[in-house]
Amino acid sequence: MEFSIKSGTPEKQRSACVVVGVFESRVLSAAAAAIDKASKSHLSKLLKNGDMDGKAGSTLLLHGVPGILAERVLLVGLGKESEFADKDFRKAISKTVATLNDIGGGDALICLTELAVGKRDTAWVVRQAAMTASDVLYRFDRLKSKKNEVKRPLHKLCFSVATRDTATAGAALLQGQAIATGQHLTKDLANLPANYCTPSYLAESARTLAKEHKLGIDVLERADMKKLGMNTLLAVAQGSAEPPKFIVLKYNGGAKGTKPIVLVGKGITFDTGGISLKPAPEMDEMKYDMCGAASVLGTLKSAALMKLPLNIIGVIPTTENMPGGKAIKPGDVVTSMSGQTVEILNTDAEGRLILCDALTYVERFDPDCVVDIATLTGACVVALGSIACGLLANNDALASELLQSGQESGDRAWQLPLWDDYQDQLKSNFADMANIGGRMAGTITAACFLARYTKKYEWAHLDIAGTAWLGGDKKGATGRPVPLLTHFLISRAEKVKPAAKAKATAGKKKAA
Ligand code: BES
Ligand code: MN
Ligand code: ZN
Repeated sequence: MEFSIKSGTPEKQRSACVVVGVFESRVLSAAAAAIDKASKSHLSKLLKNGDMDGKAGSTLLLHGVPGILAERVLLVGLGKESEFADKDFRKAISKTVATLNDIGGGDALICLTELAVGKRDTAWVVRQAAMTASDVLYRFDRLKSKKNEVKRPLHKLCFSVATRDTATAGAALLQGQAIATGQHLTKDLANLPANYCTPSYLAESARTLAKEHKLGIDVLERADMKKLGMNTLLAVAQGSAEPPKFIVLKYNGGAKGTKPIVLVGKGITFDTGGISLKPAPEMDEMKYDMCGAASVLGTLKSAALMKLPLNIIGVIPTTENMPGGKAIKPGDVVTSMSGQTVEILNTDAEGRLILCDALTYVERFDPDCVVDIATLTGACVVALGSIACGLLANNDALASELLQSGQESGDRAWQLPLWDDYQDQLKSNFADMANIGGRMAGTITAACFLARYTKKYEWAHLDIAGTAWLGGDKKGATGRPVPLLTHFLISRAEKVKPAAKAKATAGKKKAA
């Protein structure tokens, strides 16, 4: 899809469709009022007749509206004007884009981006519009033999903004598109089934990404992992015929020597549970157990597209979790890379086993902070559903930054406590810790396990088990938490910029 920014009067736009908003009780937005005026009250008449009431999510497509240049007008209901905010805006954009996509017809001018959305600025509005539109338009049909061919498909969306906002909107559009492109990669990798998306495939995808964006890349093989003592990761991998990979990607957009932000993503390309086998219903969804890995790749892609002035390292431990003659057995004790020993009481708690070695490995980067992203616990799905990601952290400032990025992007997280009191649940009679903590507080005890490997740096953990994909009719990857992570990185980049600028001016002064 091609996106662009435009400013001008809606009645004078030559386009296949102009989209304008109507609030509840038939209150016209400014753009709708302009069309109403040019068409000699065509819209008000329809509204008076009750053809549309402005309720959120309602639409009315009009052909041959007099006095304007566009072929069609799409009226979109916005709900109550006084309450119009983030969620209503996103809903209006999704409804719009879904409707336009059904109609086809080439291009459209969307005037909804001129609306005042709560306290949000134009940059936010345009960024969200691009992200929401791309999300709605996403399809995964590469494994279908018959593709859906549309005669005159929608191929261009223009967002209308006030003239004084065009520059800001242009920059925000690029950001929105960069985020959407990263999210698209995440969704594609996640939706691809486990017979295609193996650890080796993830490594190849990382290599392609590195080539495209000039990233540094290192892929460790089983032997390398053995040398490093990554025994908990290898323990999970030993039941699978697919070789495990340990992927390290480096994006160096920041000044030399600035500490990197490290993202670690769980990359279980299929989670059968291992010997602690999962029940059959919905087991297919365990192809999504690499969504953490996919979101690291997607986020790096977005960051590279945005040329963020940061150093970012993406780390992906990836393997299948399979039962078999060589698989780990409940009760096995394994020594992790950190030297701590783990009694594996449940082979289905494998995510933490591959993450703990990755979290030890990243110490070598002297990270500014580390964020791991994992479809870690079913308990998180029970606690937060598909609305919020679970967030746990050993540093409150980092946690609030991430929560804030969630609010800003609409990809929200909710913090759970990481109190020491929960650590007792991981006691083992045979090793330093068990890999499960019993029935209670499953998301927290999983994070408590990881916390034992992250003492040397500021760390946050995102449990995305409930948010990374949707089940049922809407089955598919969501691309979350790429929006949250990219917003986090953007805000980190904004903190760097003034400092870099100050340095540059100081340099100039010296030179003078
Ligand atoms: N990948 C799963 C977590 C999961 C479950 C994600 C359902 C999405 C939906 C993870 O590896 C797992 O199996 N966790 C176990 C841990 C338990 C054995 C302590 C779980 O949550 O049941
Ligand atoms: Mn599991
Ligand atoms: Zn898993």
